[in-house]
Amino acid sequence: MEKMIRVFDTTLRDGEQSPGCSMNLEEKIVMAKQLEALKVDIIEAGFAIASPGDFRSVKEISRVIKDSTVASLSRTLEKDIWSSYEALKDAVSPRIHTFIATSDIHMKYKLKQTPEEVVESAVAGVKYAKRFISDVEFSCEDATRSRKEFLYRIIKDVIDAGATVINIPDTVGYATPFEMFNLIKDIKENVPNIHKAQISVHCHNDLGLGVANTLYAVLAGADQVECTMNGIGERAGNASLEEIVMALSTRRDYYNAITRIDTTQIMKASKLLTSITGVAVQPNKAIVGANAFSHEAGIHQHGMLENRSTYEIMTPESVGLNVSKMVLGKHSGRHAFKDRIVTLGYELTDDEIDAAFKEFKILADKKKQVFDEDIVSIIERDDQND
Ligand code: KIV
Ligand code: ZN
Repeated sequence: MEKMIRVFDTTLRDGEQSPGCSMNLEEKIVMAKQLEALKVDIIEAGFAIASPGDFRSVKEISRVIKDSTVASLSRTLEKDIWSSYEALKDAVSPRIHTFIATSDIHMKYKLKQTPEEVVESAVAGVKYAKRFISDVEFSCEDATRSRKEFLYRIIKDVIDAGATVINIPDTVGYATPFEMFNLIKDIKENVPNIHKAQISVHCHNDLGLGVANTLYAVLAGADQVECTMNGIGERAGNASLEEIVMALSTRRDYYNAITRIDTTQIMKASKLLTSITGVAVQPNKAIVGANAFSHEAGIHQHGMLENRSTYEIMTPESVGLNVSKMVLGKHSGRHAFKDRIVTLGYELTDDEIDAAFKEFKILADKKKQVFDEDIVSIIERDDQND
């Protein structure tokens, strides 16, 4: 039986923490709607207590999102949890995500708390959160550098306190795939009540292993994966959503796992994020890079013409990419423009197309080539102004 893996997207929280990626309220709402269209199971909308802006974003996103769970991050402090609850109140499916560090180095130097105090604080935080919302996720920050015996103990206690999801973050991107596999396997074997909760993983990419570590965790039995679009996030970023999802779907035979994601919405989500943040994706980035589906070498092109699967393990269409890479510029007509809009996944009225086409022409006069990101940005801007 194939296992259903839940996709927890943290583009709007952990992703937003990366330099140059901060978003305003309107941009976050547009992005949240696209994540919902992508069918992510959980959208982490922000860290409600972090700032009034974050609080408002969680609140507004909670109001508009119907088909995904909306989560807000909180430390284990009552004031944080209360703020998350207040922000999440209107969500159809709210989740409080609370965390505390569990590694010796974090407990000693950052928290300045003993392990005993950390367990007490974690249990109290989960119990407090449960008073308001039934879906409570608990994260052991820096789990991969924590002592395993201590992890087993705190995980058991927070599950007894009511945590429904246990997240194992590789906060500093330190783990290797085999370590991640063994950690999840050991938690499953050594925490007596673990069957009462789902296991999640949250891998950072400092050594370029975020996606690999996540996939090994899935092989070991993880139920949920935490990730961001384009892999944005603190330092080297988080595990990238599109890479995890396409690895699971392309190698379904190997991972024996599926997700709910509508993969044809991936390119649109990626380009939307780029247009909002202005942070470009490297051309050779897997799945969403400009070169991910282009074939330059003559021998490859020849093979592709005979049979696409000679050099193509997934189709561009499966991630929502327009195959006929027609370049749009100032000489392009309304017909080609409309065609590209449809390929990008938008349904616009004739009047909306006319308005967007006018803006496109103005931009095309200034730029040699108009990219998909530019078109997405024109459409989304028009949508905001309506
Ligand atoms: O990387 C991390 O440990 C986090 C937690 C707050 C989940 O982002
Ligand atoms: Zn993180």
